[in-house]
Amino acid sequence: MPSSNERTLQPVNLPEDWQPESWRTRPAKQLPTYPDQAALAAVQEELRALPPLVTSWEILSLKQQLAEAQEGRRFLLQGGDCAENFGDCTSDVISNRLKVLLQMSLVLVHGMRLPVVRVGRFAGQYAKPRSADTETRDGVTLPCYRGDVVNAPAFTPEARIPDPRRMVRAHARSAMTMNFVRSLIDGGFADLHHPEYWGLEWVGESPLAEEYQRMVSGLGDAVRFMETLAGTQVHNLNRVDFYTSHEALLLPYEEANTRQVPRQWGWFNLSTHFPWIGVRTAALDGAHVEYFRGLRNPIGVKVGPTSTADELLRLIDVLNPDDEPGRLSLIHRMGATQIAERLPALLDAVRRSGRRVLWICDPMHGNTESTSNGYKTRRFDNIRSEIEQAFELHAAAGTRLGGVHLELTGEDVTECMGGARALTEIDLERAYKSQVDPRLNYEQALETAMLIVRKHAQGART
Ligand code: PEP
Ligand code: CO
Repeated sequence: MPSSNERTLQPVNLPEDWQPESWRTRPAKQLPTYPDQAALAAVQEELRALPPLVTSWEILSLKQQLAEAQEGRRFLLQGGDCAENFGDCTSDVISNRLKVLLQMSLVLVHGMRLPVVRVGRFAGQYAKPRSADTETRDGVTLPCYRGDVVNAPAFTPEARIPDPRRMVRAHARSAMTMNFVRSLIDGGFADLHHPEYWGLEWVGESPLAEEYQRMVSGLGDAVRFMETLAGTQVHNLNRVDFYTSHEALLLPYEEANTRQVPRQWGWFNLSTHFPWIGVRTAALDGAHVEYFRGLRNPIGVKVGPTSTADELLRLIDVLNPDDEPGRLSLIHRMGATQIAERLPALLDAVRRSGRRVLWICDPMHGNTESTSNGYKTRRFDNIRSEIEQAFELHAAAGTRLGGVHLELTGEDVTECMGGARALTEIDLERAYKSQVDPRLNYEQALETAMLIVRKHAQGART
């Protein structure tokens, strides 16, 4: 038997015809047009020389955890902002987001009796796909805002010019975010002995507070009980693993962060652990699929209501030709009204192919709508319904829902309607902060974790 170290040196099937820049020969969607190509090349050169944000060891350990999730031995919680912006790289925003994710994972661990893989949509989630390349206001047409890594949201010609220097700022802010998250976790912030550290200020007033507090004290009792039995402190409860993810949309940035490392074969995107391909850039012959094909990271692909079984199987072949465990996650985002019609054929085709994937439900992106006063919002009832239907459809198809992908924040925003406090259209005006998609606020996020647990428990009983 080769040692595990030797095994990591063995290429499974290294794509020989692939380089970090081979995507350039394919049609690329959603990329900005940089007016100054020399400045773009200089920025890429600068990025290539900077230290990586994550390591290949962490990437491979996440892949292992995702492989376990595929087998039903873990559940994935992936969440964070729709888009980070440079202004929100602050202590409060980062630590509140981390707290919500930790609280949700506590609810999931407690209720599902499964270890949770925690993946943040942060430390690099700065590029956004848009439905149109330009935006027109009062007869003036400008390039659209594509996220802080590309340009600025203000509606002026200067703000909207794609500026490659923003990639260096995005990289630095991603590093600051990672640094703070890592320090908080290493410093004991995520210690299961002290979940009370994760309380957000307004948890006390929440209609969900009582149920949550019961879980926290139940968990504290369980930890103390185990320690009494073992006669020692359970040390690995002192810290949890936390991984990062973002939509790897801006290929010049991703390319510059793609490296080879000593004692490992192949190429890693070292700007994040878990990059994903958005629904608008998942074409089989497109630049994004070409780029992702050559990475050793675990990768995700969003699957929308127009995906066909045939396309999906071909995508699986290109992105995971060796059927490697943990490699490929399929993140379905159909919408509450379409999931029952669209998902079963895909589940069935993948199950019959025998290919290994991790199925993840994104109940956000198929449920976006606009209110009469112009807010982009999502109804909590639709989010709930999509999650519940996802569990049921997987059970009926003989497949397994292995995780959820959510847009949320630790801030007290009012962007999605409904939830425990029954937010209405009028409430949206009070604290709508997102420049892109509406996020679950703290309470709605916690409520989502609770409903996942209830639905999972129902499945376990039937
Ligand atoms: C997103 O995750 O923010 C996003 C744009 O999703 P999708 O590609 O599923 O539309
Ligand atoms: Co979004």
